Amino acid sequence: MMSESKTILLTGSVAYDYLMTFPGDFRQHILPDQLESISLSFLVETMVKRRGGIAPNIAYTLALLGGRPQVFATVGEDFEDYRRWLEDNGVDTRYAQVVPGKFTASFFATTDQNNAQLASFYPGAMGEAASLSLHELESPPALVVVSPNDPAAMEKYIRECQELNWPYVYDPSQQIVRASGEVLRAGLSGATALFVNEYELGMIENKTGLSQAEVLSQVDFAVVTRGPRGATIYAGDQTYTVEATPTDQIVDPTGAGDAFRGGFLTGYSRGWAWPLCGQLGALAATYCLESDGPQGHHYSRAEFVQRFRTHYDDGGLLKELL
Ligand SMILES: Nc1ncnc2c1ncn2[C@@H]1O[C@H](COP(=O)(O)OP(=O)(O)OP(=O)(O)O)[C@@H](O)[C@H]1O
Ligand SMILES: [Mg+2]
Repeated sequence: MMSESKTILLTGSVAYDYLMTFPGDFRQHILPDQLESISLSFLVETMVKRRGGIAPNIAYTLALLGGRPQVFATVGEDFEDYRRWLEDNGVDTRYAQVVPGKFTASFFATTDQNNAQLASFYPGAMGEAASLSLHELESPPALVVVSPNDPAAMEKYIRECQELNWPYVYDPSQQIVRASGEVLRAGLSGATALFVNEYELGMIENKTGLSQAEVLSQVDFAVVTRGPRGATIYAGDQTYTVEATPTDQIVDPTGAGDAFRGGFLTGYSRGWAWPLCGQLGALAATYCLESDGPQGHHYSRAEFVQRFRTHYDDGGLLKELL
């Protein structure tokens, strides 16, 4: 359960995605006998620049649902329009710290007509995330979320939560691949909760050598998302299955997991029952799937509640969101 303060602090990447499409086939331009002098430039047809990064993605949904989440991260000099966007949408960016002379982390990807992709990720200001400290916060948040970020920063924030005795959610997702079993164990021990998809849970078991039951026993509760098959919540001895919110309008899967977390934590911060938290996550994820990019969706709280009630039973509780 969360403390007096209702503030959820999101730590994790903040990034811009630059996405381009090449109306051809990369394979036709890669000459296997000339690889030693490879030099290719693709004339691309479309480009979009999107706001992303795990911390603001989760914060965006929390804010849509009426919360006032804080993003704790290092960002670049090019962050100002992103800051305005987040603030306009109810996210508190006072702890998004600009690193002079750096760009915000940036992902550049070009996709060809067969969906083959050539991409680069530049960490930029994210590489300085470990220079921030949770000890600098003006007041303790109710909950800290530790999401994919500079690896040293993730380890530091976990250590600091443990020192300060602050509850934290361990959300390692994309960073599981490069984390050692030891680092994963340290993140789990002392965490209030673990959020992962089912594949990631398997990777954690492999890397730590722990069984699923042993992984789950480290935390008060765990949320395992299973794509279109919904999610499972493990809390104490209880297991709850949550159905995904159906949709026939999937536009882009990017960010569904993050939106799920934002919906779930909205319910959790209000002390609502596990299934209701999961269902809030599921609907928030579906809204995200139905538009381009992780923050391309929008809804009013009234619209959200109305749609929620066509799928699930909230016993009237969701009036508190309105
Ligand atoms: N095809 C789908 N139809 C309905 N809901 C979906 C679908 N795919 C995902 N979801 C919802 O999104 C939630 C999270 O999805 P998933 O388990 O794929 O997370 P993820 O693998 O972490 O995704 P990502 O990291 O790409 O955002 C699911 O629990 C479900 O509620
Ligand atoms: Mg994910």
